Amino acid sequence: MLQSLGALSLGSLLPAPGAVTPDNDTRCAPAGTATRLYIPGAEGYLGRLAPRGAALVLAAIRRPRVPDRAAQGPLAYYVRHAGRTYFNPTLALVPGERVRITLANELDEPTIAHWHGLAVDTRNDGSGMVLAAPQERYAYDFEVRNRGALYWYHPHPHGSTARQTAEGLFGLIDVDDADHAALRRALDLVPGRTELTLVLQDPPRGGRYRPSDADLVHGFMGDDACVNGTRYAYVDVASRLYRLRLLNACNARTLRLAFTTAAGARVPFVVVGNDGGLLPAPVAAQEAFFATAERLDVLLDLRDAPVGETIVLRSLEFDPMHAEMLSTAGSDLPADHAATGHGAGGAPRGEDPGRAPTWPEGAPRQLLEFRVRERVRYDRRVPATLAAHVPIDTNDARERPLRLGYNKGRWRINDRVFAMGETPIEVARDTTEVWLLRNYHTSMPHAMHLHGFHFDVLERETSPDAVHALAQDDKGRLASDLGRKDTVLVWPGESVRIAIRFALPWPAPQTYMFHCHNLEHEDGGMMLGVRVA
Ligand code: C2O
Ligand code: CU
Ligand code: CU
Repeated sequence: MLQSLGALSLGSLLPAPGAVTPDNDTRCAPAGTATRLYIPGAEGYLGRLAPRGAALVLAAIRRPRVPDRAAQGPLAYYVRHAGRTYFNPTLALVPGERVRITLANELDEPTIAHWHGLAVDTRNDGSGMVLAAPQERYAYDFEVRNRGALYWYHPHPHGSTARQTAEGLFGLIDVDDADHAALRRALDLVPGRTELTLVLQDPPRGGRYRPSDADLVHGFMGDDACVNGTRYAYVDVASRLYRLRLLNACNARTLRLAFTTAAGARVPFVVVGNDGGLLPAPVAAQEAFFATAERLDVLLDLRDAPVGETIVLRSLEFDPMHAEMLSTAGSDLPADHAATGHGAGGAPRGEDPGRAPTWPEGAPRQLLEFRVRERVRYDRRVPATLAAHVPIDTNDARERPLRLGYNKGRWRINDRVFAMGETPIEVARDTTEVWLLRNYHTSMPHAMHLHGFHFDVLERETSPDAVHALAQDDKGRLASDLGRKDTVLVWPGESVRIAIRFALPWPAPQTYMFHCHNLEHEDGGMMLGVRVA
């Protein structure tokens, strides 16, 4: 039954003490203390909610500050459904399902929710052209047209996307299909036990998003590695194969993921999926760069790990390639940024008295420990094929160059910054385009994301050595490039060609966003409207 949220006070929206299971309360350990990984269940934080056509009210709320929950920030999406309460629910959907969600804005500022990766029309895309004012609602009604994959949702009010997301507003969307069911059967995977969905984040200590001017240029780096809201997380495992479905929900941070033994030896893994679902075939890997908003689906084989061993998921050290010239830039930021940053004029990175960077980008960090506790028999083999993949036909494609760079204090696409209502990219419906994303040498990495359509990565050229070393084919593509994607990291000096089929099942025109998913870059204007007509 639906509640009229407008008539309820915040107090009545929150679960009574004790209504949340004890595990939900261990989301943030004091520094240095290992904490059991929080695994979402059928309610509560990140709890799995399968609406199956039922209408939901998703309330964006500011919750009372609870000292130990700082990592989750003060904002949350709250849902009450079928007698259960959820914070930032994981929406469990299936292809073809009708989704009816009403966003109820209980904040004191405008917001809107965007379904990252879902193919929807402009009205349902929540890209920021229409906002829900405080105490107002916005009703979404769409059909799931995507294949099985891990998608997510987060706010998209231009200029406040970064802050609202960092302060806790985001959730997962798990679209399930037959390919995923087949993989689970083949590998004997049980969601929540041997198949774990892991949200990686780097929340600021104290939960407060207060970027310096330099942070707005580079992207905001939080302080602590959190997995599903758990700092210093560990999980007990058995000597078998695990499936890990990862989302990088950091505002701006790229990770260089690898598994190692406690002694530091690499443990290889298998990449089976990405933003767009399962790859055609599994790909063996030793490490993977993982940018903000990307998803990665991997298999970790612990068959040979002795009981007592600890395997660690970590981010290895890497050169984040932020051009030196940028460190003193940033005095020419848009007004809505100047308001959130403190201190005037280009404070060099790391010298902002308000916020010392405790985890600079590229610095190594442990993310999650797998503690092998039990020896079990396990003899399943990874299937040789995972899903059908028909590459996008680029024969009649028009090529469109898009340059990524920095000029006059702003990150830009083709030297333009975002202007509401303008659509510098005009595409003819039902055509295919090849976009050539070229990043300047003097730039920094940009995680480029397109709303509404998934794409094929065709080729990477002149990649930095650390990236090229991981290439899987003669096109310079990485393991995670080998399926459909919605977000692609483009390194300084690199050119990435992507193919997009602009098939439109709705009346034209429809408008979408193309932007950098480093949320400070996005809010700063590194975004262009795309009109498909
Ligand atoms: Cu997560 Cu405009 O996107
Ligand atoms: Cu999106
Ligand atoms: Cu960027």
